[in-house]
Amino acid sequence: MPALQAVRPNPDVLEGLRLSVAPMMDWTDTHCRVFHRLLAPGARLYTEMVHANAVIHGDRQRLLGFDAGEHPLALQLGGSDPALLAQAARIAEDWGYDEVNLNCGCPSDRVQAGRFGACLMREPALVAECVAAMVAAVRVPVTVKCRLGVDDDDDYAAFAAFVDRQVGAGAAMIVVHARNAWLKGLSPKENREVPPLRYDWAYRLKRERPALPVVLNGGLATVEAAQAQLAHVDGVMLGRAAYHDPYVLHLLEAVQTGAPVRSREAMLEALRPYVEEQLRRGVGLKHITRHLLGLYHGQPGGRGFRKVLSEGAHLPGAGWGLVEQAVAVTRVQAERCG
Ligand SMILES: Cc1cc2nc3c(=O)[nH]c(=O)nc-3n(C[C@H](O)[C@H](O)[C@H](O)COP(=O)(O)O)c2cc1C
Repeated sequence: MPALQAVRPNPDVLEGLRLSVAPMMDWTDTHCRVFHRLLAPGARLYTEMVHANAVIHGDRQRLLGFDAGEHPLALQLGGSDPALLAQAARIAEDWGYDEVNLNCGCPSDRVQAGRFGACLMREPALVAECVAAMVAAVRVPVTVKCRLGVDDDDDYAAFAAFVDRQVGAGAAMIVVHARNAWLKGLSPKENREVPPLRYDWAYRLKRERPALPVVLNGGLATVEAAQAQLAHVDGVMLGRAAYHDPYVLHLLEAVQTGAPVRSREAMLEALRPYVEEQLRRGVGLKHITRHLLGLYHGQPGGRGFRKVLSEGAHLPGAGWGLVEQAVAVTRVQAERCG
């Protein structure tokens, strides 16, 4: 077992921290991330959680493969065995990931049975062993994504002690999904909605540890709400809003960097070469367009866009023309509304 590491200040970890897209199982696959990258060129992107065992024994091309344009990109690992996590982290580094993140927030039954995810909030010493082992194995930053506690925990000091332990073990940054996880009686979906958000705990964590990079996650859905957090923490991580209303990523990035705002149609046009290349490789259009459905969220004609893509993308021979058709329908519907 490796010795605990001294805190390693790493200025690189701050690159892309102001805005990141949350790890989301079944959602943030490589196609999704390529799209998000176009929308927000500077944002930090996260993979879906992959268990350390899968990284070691599974189909690496399928689990770890990514497009060269996706950087800065973090692999999120699940697990609680320090040696396996260290091995998986090394593989991630070899594949070119810019960060390795440990999941201490997922509340699903499957994850609890495997003794990882949110139930690790109750095992700070074990998590610290995992973090130290990963830190000893790689040069890229090792980070932790956690909750405030589990079940009816209501103790800021215990939460802060958990974080301090991980930082002491070498964690370079903490992502705080600012609510508890309830391990019994709530589904993972309910666990993203029912336990109350307490941003003040993340603010206090940052205030008391100014040198520690802290990213706030949970319930951020608008540019204004996300930007307001930056007075208190180093960055914001958007999950569901980024997926269901991805243009918000573009607007946020524009506000944060001063880059010009481009239209939704321009975003799609920028994605076209990637889509065509994937189609040439035999990837079905639906695997990419499922991540685009929210692009016109809340816009006149947005339902038409979604309908054309969801009804047509699985059909044999579906290609870029379908996306153009969806845009055309959206435009017509929007003109009617207007
Ligand atoms: C479909 C879905 C899958 C998720 N999968 C993961 C995951 O693999 N790892 C993780 O740490 N969190 C996962 N989460 C939680 C998100 O990363 C995030 O913490 C949560 O959705 C709260 O942020 P939000 O309110 O911006 O969505 C998932 C969330 C959703 C909606």
